[in-house]
Amino acid sequence: MRVQPAAQTGAEGRNDAVLRASHISVEYGGTVPTRAVRDVSIELHRGEMLGIAGESGCGKSTLAYALTRLLRPPAVMTEGQVLFCGRDGAAPIDIMQLEPEALRRFRWTVVSMVFQSAMNSLNPVISLRRQFSDIFEAHVPEMDREARDRRSRELLEMVGIDPSRLGGFPHELSGGMRQRVGIAMALALQPEIVIMDEPTTALDVVVQREILLEIARLRRELGFSVIFITHDLPMLVDLSDRLAVMYAGEIVERAPAEWVGGRPAHPYTLGLQAACPDLLGERRALQGIPGSPPDLRQRLRGCAFAPRCQYVFGPCADIHPVLSPLAPPAAAVIESVLDRDGGKTSKLNDWAVACHLHDRTANPAGPPDELAGDPLGTGGLVPPAVGAGLGVDPTGRPARGQDQL
Ligand SMILES: Nc1ncnc2c1ncn2[C@@H]1O[C@H](COP(=O)(O)OP(=O)(O)O)[C@@H](O)[C@H]1O
Ligand code: SF4
Ligand SMILES: [Mg+2]
Repeated sequence: MRVQPAAQTGAEGRNDAVLRASHISVEYGGTVPTRAVRDVSIELHRGEMLGIAGESGCGKSTLAYALTRLLRPPAVMTEGQVLFCGRDGAAPIDIMQLEPEALRRFRWTVVSMVFQSAMNSLNPVISLRRQFSDIFEAHVPEMDREARDRRSRELLEMVGIDPSRLGGFPHELSGGMRQRVGIAMALALQPEIVIMDEPTTALDVVVQREILLEIARLRRELGFSVIFITHDLPMLVDLSDRLAVMYAGEIVERAPAEWVGGRPAHPYTLGLQAACPDLLGERRALQGIPGSPPDLRQRLRGCAFAPRCQYVFGPCADIHPVLSPLAPPAAAVIESVLDRDGGKTSKLNDWAVACHLHDRTANPAGPPDELAGDPLGTGGLVPPAVGAGLGVDPTGRPARGQDQL
């Protein structure tokens, strides 16, 4: 199923970033520090869902904490800047420079988070009414009891929970319902950005699917931007507008999600795709990636993925691959796709990869077909634009499941 994007991300212009993080590096202190996030730059556009994928231990949560200044010792952000750009055209706010009171207001009202453990972070013996009220009392003290109740009911209803549950307790709710309450709380103050860190991972597949569809609907209706973190790449391809794949604390591939659904460009992305079942799509055989991510306390040489990569060759052991836009001929195919939508939603250099296979000097033969970085998944053949804009995606394939949302 391909979920319809909430907003045509570029239609309002590519300067429409709501969050801009540049050169973020985070270390966990210790005898030998863990370099959990290494020089990561990302941009979140207004109204879009940006997916961040990667196995456990790749630095996804650490990055999310850094973006919201939620890092706690021994974590230290050693480098980087995070800017929030409001709707009003005012100067961007440097989140790292906010004073404690401004930071407190910023969280919840501008950026809120939903964690994997949100359902366990609700106090089981304090009523939902009290827990919603705590948020409003802290951030909107002028709200009276009646208004707080009304808004709390509205929020419960919004995430598909009967508002009569407001007087009840979290221990009376299932895991899925508690996670929905966590999402309702994150949306309580109508934030512009919601960061969701594995929000459905602890739930069974049916409940996961329901909640994902709910998140997509809410995003469409309310227009907030989302950073959605998960190890489940197929889910992100279905759900997000753009995605970034993290490995060993770095972004190794960044692209519009739908394009990666054609043919990805990085061997790790291909491995993740093969390793996860597609919750919203067709059933297929799964294949794990051999080995495990590196110990981030070690100094990494060359490509961090090399010990696990079946395509490893000459420069991989010693030269660190840098995230770079895809070169021809992949770029030519991307351009042909862009021509069809007038470059409204994406730009040529939106697809970047950190892999020597795409460096024509190091690898004159170019990447193998399965890593061609082909948005169409057709080996560069552009099918006629039959039905474009009528529920048919740019490849000519019927867009999956649009009727469901
Ligand atoms: N509190 C901590 N102290 C020391 N190291 C940590 C701590 N939290 C995470 N790490 C390390 O940082 C790296 C990235 O972790 P994390 O951001 O949780 O990854 P992910 O969310 O992708 O699973 C891992 O190597 C992990 O062991
Ligand atoms: S740079 Fe080399 S080792 Fe790293 S992903 Fe590319 S081919 Fe594999
Ligand atoms: Mg995590």
